[in-house]
Amino acid sequence: MYFCYKNDVLFWLEADLNKLCLEIETLLENKYRYNGPYYVYHADILRKRLQLTAKTLPKSRFFYSVKSLSNIHILKIIKEYENFGLDVVSEGEILRGILADFEGKDIVFAGVGKKRSEIIFGLEKNIKSFHVESIEELKKIAEIALSLGKTASVALRVNPNIEADTHEYIKTGLDENKFGLSSNEFTLALEIIRESSSLNLNGLQTHLGSQIKDSKPYKDALALLVNLAGIVKEKLSKPVDYLSLGGGFGIDYESSLKDITANDFSLKEIADYELYKNSEYQIDFEPGRFISGYSGILVSKVLYLKEKKDFIIAVVDSGMTDLIRPALYKAKHPILTVKKRNEAKAIYDIAGPICESSDYLAKKIELTELKQNDRLAVLHCGAYASTMGSNYNSRPLAPEFLIEEDKVILIRKPQSLDEMLTLEISANKA
Ligand code: LLP
Repeated sequence: MYFCYKNDVLFWLEADLNKLCLEIETLLENKYRYNGPYYVYHADILRKRLQLTAKTLPKSRFFYSVKSLSNIHILKIIKEYENFGLDVVSEGEILRGILADFEGKDIVFAGVGKKRSEIIFGLEKNIKSFHVESIEELKKIAEIALSLGKTASVALRVNPNIEADTHEYIKTGLDENKFGLSSNEFTLALEIIRESSSLNLNGLQTHLGSQIKDSKPYKDALALLVNLAGIVKEKLSKPVDYLSLGGGFGIDYESSLKDITANDFSLKEIADYELYKNSEYQIDFEPGRFISGYSGILVSKVLYLKEKKDFIIAVVDSGMTDLIRPALYKAKHPILTVKKRNEAKAIYDIAGPICESSDYLAKKIELTELKQNDRLAVLHCGAYASTMGSNYNSRPLAPEFLIEEDKVILIRKPQSLDEMLTLEISANKA
């Protein structure tokens, strides 16, 4: 069990969160004069998820999606697993990978809008593949590689026009979406590659969306890629090295105290799929959330309580600048009190401090009694929490901690107000 209460104190695996929060807050206050929210990650959970993924799909290689949780210290844990590389979407993410000791050959570079400088950077670092999303991008990569006297390894990202059941904002696999090549563009791309001396096609890729619970779209997408790989073989007289089905495996955001993984995406259903089992191709995945999602919490404190007729608004010290998912996707993250005062329950809205009506972490949830300064743990904040953080309302970015064995380590300092403002203050200086 990942979370449980012992004598009214919340434990996360072996970690007593009340004790741990006190230790963290003492450090933040004494060393950094910081007293806001913070993220805590658990290395054991990351490792469990990495092992589970690799073990269930033993034929596959994985490219962890850096955008889900990109702290360099987290990437160093991913690096311990030899069949894991990185899926990146910017020069900044490549740099993170390199700082975590990944080599270019372990990095695939996706994204619809790769800039010239980013393509040059990827070529210089000899990345494994550019996952190409448009004809114009393919031509640009060919031209840049030619001018540098290099051969660019590319994989074509295909838009499969397959619907996946998830939030509208995180669907990517439909023809109307901006991602990937349509079937006509795919044919044209093969012609361009055949004629080009600076492009080498090494794979086919697709990505259906994120927080997907059903394996069916993956099976359909695999069938499509296998079919397209046959066309490549025919047209280019050479097989591709790999097929990548992207990321998107969903986690169970509903769960908190019991059966935290009960309603996870079933990797096994893919492992058992005939086409997967018998494929002559290397099949890759790019999981992000499935690896990092459960590994993080956001700790926040109650600032004020406001009584309404049927419920109470608890205004807390973190909001959409630290976790935008509830405001942006109406996502639900379980919230637990770090230390229960009693068993009397009430209905709470957990509101952030930001001046936006959508700035809530949760609405109408049942919690035991809250008072000022009580700590709340917002669960499943490993993925797309800190990485989507912002300075809106001129709030500094929150610090990050990692539980490793029985220690808690600072892995990102709190941003000071000076650091936040320095780009402006120093802008006109020589
Ligand atoms: N591969 C590609 C090409 C992607 O675009 C993504 C995510 C992934 C892999 C990893 O997907 P994952 O396994 O983490 O679902 N901010 C949203 C999620 C956006 C996902 C963007 N692309 C959220 O908070 O739900």
